[in-house]
Amino acid sequence: CGIVGYTGLDTAKDVLITGLKRLEYRGYDSAGVALERAEGDGCVVDIVRRVGKVAGLESELAQRDDASTCGIGHTRWATHGVPSVANAHPHASCDGRIAVVHNGIIENFAELRADLEARGHVFSSQTDTEVFAHLIEEAYATTHDLAAAVRAACVHVVGAYGLAAVCADEPGVIMVARKDSPIVVGRGERGSYVASDVIALIDATRDVVVLEDGQFARLAPEGIEYTDAEGRRIEPAVTHIDWDIDMAEKGGYPDFMLKEIYEQPRVVRDTLVGRLAPNGELDIDELGLSFEELNVIDRIYVIACGTSYHAGLIAKNLIESWARIPCEVEAASEFRYRDPIITPSTLVVAVSQSGETADTLAAIRDARIKGAKVFGITNVIGSPVARESDGVIYTKANKEIAVASTKSFIGQIVSLTLLALLLGQAKGRLTTGQVRMLFHELGDTSAQIQRIFDTQLDAIHEAACACQGAQSALFVGRGMGAAISYEGALKLKEVSYLHAEAYAAGEMKHGPIALIEPGFPVIAVTTKSPTYDKVVSNLKECEARGARIIALATEGDEDIKRIADHVIYIPPVRDAFSAITASVPLQLLAREVALMRGCNVDQPRNLAKSVTVE
Ligand code: G6P
Repeated sequence: CGIVGYTGLDTAKDVLITGLKRLEYRGYDSAGVALERAEGDGCVVDIVRRVGKVAGLESELAQRDDASTCGIGHTRWATHGVPSVANAHPHASCDGRIAVVHNGIIENFAELRADLEARGHVFSSQTDTEVFAHLIEEAYATTHDLAAAVRAACVHVVGAYGLAAVCADEPGVIMVARKDSPIVVGRGERGSYVASDVIALIDATRDVVVLEDGQFARLAPEGIEYTDAEGRRIEPAVTHIDWDIDMAEKGGYPDFMLKEIYEQPRVVRDTLVGRLAPNGELDIDELGLSFEELNVIDRIYVIACGTSYHAGLIAKNLIESWARIPCEVEAASEFRYRDPIITPSTLVVAVSQSGETADTLAAIRDARIKGAKVFGITNVIGSPVARESDGVIYTKANKEIAVASTKSFIGQIVSLTLLALLLGQAKGRLTTGQVRMLFHELGDTSAQIQRIFDTQLDAIHEAACACQGAQSALFVGRGMGAAISYEGALKLKEVSYLHAEAYAAGEMKHGPIALIEPGFPVIAVTTKSPTYDKVVSNLKECEARGARIIALATEGDEDIKRIADHVIYIPPVRDAFSAITASVPLQLLAREVALMRGCNVDQPRNLAKSVTVE
C-alpha cells in the first residue's frame, strides 16, 4: 500500500495523483483521495475512491472542479477485506469530518472495533484502518486539536501503522504518525509533503525526514512540526536523497529481487500478526472449519506449481510430523489429469502466490467437484484461488515484482506452518503449550534471517564465485534439507540459467554421482538435523571425486569445514523451521551467480510472473 499527502499552494489532487502513480508499480487494487474543500464559512472533506488503477481515479478527479490545496491519498494492496470501494482508503469518521489513510496492520482491531461500536460508532468497511478514523474522532471531541487526537488514538492501537489524517475543522493541516511502517515527510518550495516512500516525494523535494517509530509530524502549508508521543517538539535529522527514479522504486536496492529478499524478516512478522489468540490458540478463522471438522481430515494433497510446489514439500514434513495426516504434494498440472483418491474427509491445500495460476485453479475446481475441502494459500486478496477455495490464508508478502519468487515463498512456508500447527492441535497431537512455543520459535526466524544478512554476505559471495563458471550444479540434502535443495536449484536455474539439479542426498549414489568431476559445485544443506551425519557421509563421496562443496551449516559447526570448501552459516533453528532460514542464502547465492553471469535477475528470459494459461 502507499500513502501520499500534500498541503500547500498547488492543486492537491494533481500532487496526490502524481505521487500515487509513482507508488503504483508495487501493486494496487484500489486508490482514493480525501480533499479538503471550502464550503460556506467552513470546510468539508470529500472522499473519492475507485477500484482499479490510479488512472481511473485520475479521470474521475479530472471531471471535478476541485481547487483543494490539502489532501491525502492511498493506493491499496488488500490485506484485510476484499478490494472494493468500501474497503479502499481514505476512511472517514462517522461525521465525515476526519479522514485517514493507513499502511500496516492493527493487531487489536477486532477489540477496538467492538468497543467503538458499543459506544455508537457505525463502521462502513471491513478494514482495520477505519478504527483509526473513529478513534481520532472520539479523541477530537475532547481535545479539539488534530495533533493531540492522533497521538491519543495511537495509544490504543497495537500493531504497525504509517498514518496520515486530515480534519475539516483544521483546514490545511495533515497529521502523520509512524510505528513499524515507513513514513517520509518533506518540505518543498510549494508546500509540505508526506508519503510512505520517497519515490512519491522526489518530484517535489529531495530533502526528507524519515520518521522514526513513535514520532509524529504536523504538516501545514507554511511548515512542518515534529513531536514525540508526548507532544514535545523534536528536531529530526534531514536526509538528502540523490537516487534517480529507478533506484527510488527499488528502495535504493539495485534490483527488485534483492529488495524482496530483504523484506523477508517483515513477511515472517506480518504473516504471524494476530495469529496467536491470548488463550494460546491459533487464530485462523478464515479457514472456516472448527477443530471437530479439522479432526475428521484423514488425507491431504498440497497442489501447486513452481516455487509454491516447493513450499508444499516443506509443509508435507510438518503436517505429517505434527498432525500425523498422510500428505502428498503434487504439481497441479499432474493432479488435474490424474484420478486422485478423494473423499469428503480429504483436504486439498492449493498454494499460489498470484492466486491465478491456471493449472492450480483447474485442480481446485476438480478437487471440489470430487468432494474435497479446499484451502487456498495465496498472496493476493480476492484472487481466483481465494474466491474458489473454502477457506484461505493470506501470506502478507505484499506485491512481489521480481519474477522469481522469494518473499512469497517465505510467506507460504510460514502460512503452511501455521496450518500444520493448527492441524496438529485439532488432531490432539500438539498441546496448546507446544503450539505456543513453536509459534514463538517460528516468529524468531524473522531475526534469524536478518542475522544471515548481517553476517553471511561475504561467505555467499565466495560461494557464488565458485559456481559462476560451472556448467552445472547439484543441490543435496535430506528430509527438510532435500525440500530446501529443490527450491535452491530452481532459483539458481531461473535467474542464472546455470543448469542445476536437486537430489535427496542418499540417492546421489544411484546416478547423479556420475556427474561429479573435479571442481563440480555441490551445494549441500547440512544444518543440524536428525540426518546430519548421513548427509556428511554422502558429501564425503562427493569430496572423494573432487567436488567443490558449498555447505549450508549451523553456526558453531566447525567440523563441516573439514569437508566443505565454502561454508555459509545459518543461526541454530529447529529442523522444522530450517527451510525459512536456509532458503534465504540460497536466494542470495542464485542472485549473485546470475549477476556475475550478466543476467537480468528481475526478469529472467522465458519466464512469466503468473501463468494463466495451461
Ligand atoms: C510461475 C512463476 C514462478 C511461480 C509459479 C507458480 O512459473 O515464474 O515463480 O512459482 O508460476 O505461481 P503461483 O502464482 O501459482 O505461485
